[in-house]
Amino acid sequence: MSIDPNLNPDSPISVGSGIPGLGIEVARVPEPVRRRVEAWHRDGLSVGLVPTMGALHAGHRALVKAARAEMDRVVVSIFVNPRQFGAGEDLEIYPRTENEDLAILTEERADLAWVPSPDIVYPPGFQTTVNAGALGLPMEGAHRPGFFDGVATVVAKLFALTRPHRAYFGEKDYQQLLVVARLGEDLDLGVEIVPVRTVREDDGLAMSSRNVRLTPEERATAPVLHRTLCRMAARLADGASDPATEIAWGTQRLLSAGFQAIDYLDVRDPRTLDPVTRAGVPARVLAAANLGSVRLIDNVPVE
Ligand code: PAF
Repeated sequence: MSIDPNLNPDSPISVGSGIPGLGIEVARVPEPVRRRVEAWHRDGLSVGLVPTMGALHAGHRALVKAARAEMDRVVVSIFVNPRQFGAGEDLEIYPRTENEDLAILTEERADLAWVPSPDIVYPPGFQTTVNAGALGLPMEGAHRPGFFDGVATVVAKLFALTRPHRAYFGEKDYQQLLVVARLGEDLDLGVEIVPVRTVREDDGLAMSSRNVRLTPEERATAPVLHRTLCRMAARLADGASDPATEIAWGTQRLLSAGFQAIDYLDVRDPRTLDPVTRAGVPARVLAAANLGSVRLIDNVPVE
């Protein structure tokens, strides 16, 4: 796709991002997205959506690659959704790297970037929200009240606008994956939710846009989270231990490694997120823990 150097950044849909060398269509208001998607549907093309909050990294690339491999057209949204940040959370300092993001999306051959501002997504008078229900209450939901209602609301809006056949979500946010799958089913949205495996650094740390805020010392400690979850999962899988023992062990391990606060460290049913109290049944080990100012989350299956 060629670049128009005279591109007007205010135009509803632009060929190129306005940055030399980049060639992805960028929409900042809904109408052109609607028109584009309508045409794709009319032409019988399959549409994949990758919802993101930007600050793209290898984990997002994996989502876009998965969509690109399966679908005729790929839409990626970049929107730091204020409704999923609570008071005192990191909305203001959440990394925003739009130019780099668009370069990555161009490399990954996404077709359309949906990059709205908050007032476009939530114009004056906006008042309808989606309640994420019981799946959104424990763990992340307990520590971030309203978080999953915010996620469910914005994802419902993204689905309504982009009308994807499939939407791609990372397993790193495992609870979110379940909430979104339930949302699609409950509201008959007709979107297949595709889970994509967590992408990790060589030392096991799950890729996250927030990792850039770790100090070198915290970055050295951070992989202990994944190692701890893996060790717990392995012991549960071979029946050598039970969830309560493992949670107690894991908590101590994280605290002694330097994590300051553990929001949760749990063994849960992989579909319902009900607590699992014995070994030898399907389960997922999930955790959120704080290192300095950075809150890390991760999870692994008990296989
Ligand atoms: O996982 C995220 O980045 C966000 O929660 C999502 C799904 C893009 C909704 O804002």
